[in-house]
Amino acid sequence: MGLPTFLLCLSVVGIRQCLGGYSDYDYGGIPVMINRLLGEPSVLSLRGRLDASWYRAVNTETCPLECDCPVHWPSAAYCDHRGLKAVPPALPPRTQYLFLQGNLISSLPAGVFANATLARWLLLDRNQLASDQVNSTALAQLPHLENLFLNYNHLTDVPSPLPGGLLQLRLAHNRISKITPGAFRNLRNLTLLLLQGNQLQTIGEAAFKAGLQSVILLDLSHNQLKEFPEGLPPSIQQLYISNNSLSVLQERSLIGFGNLQYLRISHNRLQDKGIASNVFNMSSIIELDLSYNQLTSVPVVSETLQYLYLQANLIQEVNMTSFCRTVGPVDYSHLRVLRLDGNPLSYHQLPSDWVLCLRVLSNIFI
Ligand SMILES: *[C@@H]1O[C@H](CO)[C@@H](O)[C@H](O)[C@H]1NC(C)=O
Ligand SMILES: *[C@@H]1O[C@H](CO)[C@@H](O)[C@H](O)[C@H]1NC(C)=O
Ligand SMILES: *[C@@H]1O[C@H](CO)[C@@H](O)[C@H](O)[C@H]1NC(C)=O
Ligand SMILES: *[C@@H]1O[C@H](CO)[C@@H](O)[C@H](O)[C@H]1NC(C)=O
Ligand SMILES: *[C@@H]1O[C@H](CO)[C@@H](O)[C@H](O)[C@H]1NC(C)=O
Ligand SMILES: *[C@@H]1O[C@H](CO)[C@@H](O)[C@H](O)[C@H]1NC(C)=O
Repeated sequence: MGLPTFLLCLSVVGIRQCLGGYSDYDYGGIPVMINRLLGEPSVLSLRGRLDASWYRAVNTETCPLECDCPVHWPSAAYCDHRGLKAVPPALPPRTQYLFLQGNLISSLPAGVFANATLARWLLLDRNQLASDQVNSTALAQLPHLENLFLNYNHLTDVPSPLPGGLLQLRLAHNRISKITPGAFRNLRNLTLLLLQGNQLQTIGEAAFKAGLQSVILLDLSHNQLKEFPEGLPPSIQQLYISNNSLSVLQERSLIGFGNLQYLRISHNRLQDKGIASNVFNMSSIIELDLSYNQLTSVPVVSETLQYLYLQANLIQEVNMTSFCRTVGPVDYSHLRVLRLDGNPLSYHQLPSDWVLCLRVLSNIFI
């Protein structure tokens, strides 16, 4: 089964590299679609793709009445999008992929997955799960669980404890307003953590401290954060905090993140005075998105940066020292794309020698 490889590629190399150009995958029988808006894959149902009654007729294996169990993929149970108010009883013990998204499930009592202990994928997106209706033992008792999808529910807390072997945890678009210290404590293998579209105002230093030593992608976009979170895992390669209320980035905010490659802080309240002078001068960063802020000048960035998005700020002039400290045969900016559109700036205001510094630039928007 090739699926784990696919996902590995997703989380290790980064969504852009792996999926650029494609929007629809049929991988090992699982239709996976990349939702470009959310930048994440969603596993679709088989609705309209399979004749459920035919599969039920030819499949001799047990299958709950509420679900479809494709004969050629015995480890999957499709119970999605059918108005279920509860997890179906008597799930087949062979189930490794459990599709329950798009139902009306509001609770997970203890033992609800007692017959599906082999489950590795559990998709519960778009249900009505509330935190006080989720008994933590229900999830903790799935020792093989690697991929847990809980997007678009009514959760107010991170469920805890969770199975220690999780690789991805998707909690986007819930109502989570706080992260209890140690909530992720045992998730040492987690590489992808989605928390965008919640109601987080602050993230305490202890929230991410324990566990989470393998996280590659962390999405905190669309929350209400006023301060840059502390104690983030140093393993992070992709950090998304767009659409929050950040106004300050301190010198220490990004110290220690030697793996950080993609940093997106668009749609915040950043002003020049709130940004420490050297905070973005990190040689690991490939893409920096500072669009839709209130910057009046271009911050100092590393010469190795390749993509810089500064559109819709208040930038009136550009000083090449932001990109190049010195210019010479081997000293130049590696920027390929520079967006400065939507600023009170025009092309002729660029210093005449800008091409010497930005010599590999392929796209500039002013
Ligand atoms: C598990 O399976 C047994 C035997 O089929 C059944 O009696 C029991 O109700 C099932 N439990 C759940 C939670 O589905
Ligand atoms: C979870 O279920 C167990 C076993 O049924 C029960 O003892 C415990 O009180 C439940 N916890 C919550 C928070 O409901
Ligand atoms: C984490 O991953 C390692 C290496 O793949 C594995 O040996 C270990 O069992 C995993 N940890 C848990 C708690 O599953
Ligand atoms: C941020 O908000 C803007 C305006 O509402 C929206 O267009 C954009 O898609 C959002 N971006 C993210 C990453 O949430
Ligand atoms: C940016 O970082 C590089 C490498 O660490 C360093 O040599 C350079 O002086 C820094 N630039 C500025 C403007 O401080
Ligand atoms: C660009 O910035 C450098 C260093 O801050 C300064 O010395 C220089 O005068 C500036 N150039 C322009 C044209 O403003």
